[in-house]
Amino acid sequence: MFSVDELKAGFRDIYGREPFLIRAPGRVNLIGEHTDYNDGFIMPAALEYETRAAVAPRADRILRVHSAKIGETREFDLDNPAPQPKHDWTDYVFGVAVALAGAGKALKGADILVASSVPVGSGLSSSAALEVSIGYSLLTVAGLPIDKVELAKLCQKAENEFVGMRCGIMDQFISCNGQHDHALMIDCRSLEKRPVPIDPRARIVVANSMVHHELASGEYNKRRASCEEAVRRLAPVLGSIKALRDVTPAGLEANKALLSDVTYRRARHIVTENERVVEAADALAAGDLARCGALMNQSHASMRDDYEISCEEVDVLVDIAQKLPGVFGSRMTGGGFGGCTVSLVEAGAVDAFMTNVRTAYETATGLKSTIFACSPQQGVGPLAD
Ligand code: GLA
Repeated sequence: MFSVDELKAGFRDIYGREPFLIRAPGRVNLIGEHTDYNDGFIMPAALEYETRAAVAPRADRILRVHSAKIGETREFDLDNPAPQPKHDWTDYVFGVAVALAGAGKALKGADILVASSVPVGSGLSSSAALEVSIGYSLLTVAGLPIDKVELAKLCQKAENEFVGMRCGIMDQFISCNGQHDHALMIDCRSLEKRPVPIDPRARIVVANSMVHHELASGEYNKRRASCEEAVRRLAPVLGSIKALRDVTPAGLEANKALLSDVTYRRARHIVTENERVVEAADALAAGDLARCGALMNQSHASMRDDYEISCEEVDVLVDIAQKLPGVFGSRMTGGGFGGCTVSLVEAGAVDAFMTNVRTAYETATGLKSTIFACSPQQGVGPLAD
């Protein structure tokens, strides 16, 4: 992680003046996977891993960004009438400028240095952290008011329309609105959020499978298409449904014959997952860690068997975790096809859990998992000195 001093010194080296600093976190999702783009429920928390941006205004209409990770500086003209994606990291940066400008925000030129501790490709939302840090920086430079719900929506729009990934609202929303020591149960239709405190008897532990299968974004968009197909086929019999959020498990079962086996299983994951999220939030709030964990385990089985977004390595990691003492529950987190798992672990058992998972996972796969216990953070904002 770049310290505040390193970031400032780095900025001075590149741009020759003093910056102000912004941070935007990555996330882990406790439960509610692929439900966001079905108008459903999710329960993410913002992580200590974050993107940090050092920023200063310019007098012209140029946006210049240096990535510490990539080691390159790129420029973008805010007056470019037809901005095109370049299919690299800059799409997340300039896509946000395009989305903000498209929403009528009068942006100004800026020099920015970004550095991130969110591991790329691990399913912890490095892209959303980058987008949100840029969006917040640009609005600050322009002296515009910042509405964090609107910012999340515009960053999602940038990813949907400029990057070409049809993601839901989860990653950008939690990066904007995360709350210290809490997960947020979010209704992705109304965008109402309910903070759920993390019971001090438990810790959220994230383990990286260290694999990322390249099919991720193509398969992601296919899952989304299956959900839309299910809604199209069910709407004539179920009445005014707009999304799978409006379908109950009983309604789906009764009309199973209208769907192909694959579409039915995709829909079953979503409608059962929505119920699990609502119940898990109540269980966590009531201190029923065993119930919350059991729902996380069920969520993993549903992602593995019905939604088919897990993979061998992640299943191994989850199996190892679920069998260890002091573990309430464990599941894959994020978009899928690799990345990280999230486990709810008894506070006193965390050290042994991390050692045992690391050893058993390496024995089974030859891979060294990075594992950490996290404490939920605030969403985007100024980075204090
Ligand atoms: C990715 C997307 C999110 C969400 C998750 C799956 O992280 O960006 O919108 O759909 O996958 O829950």
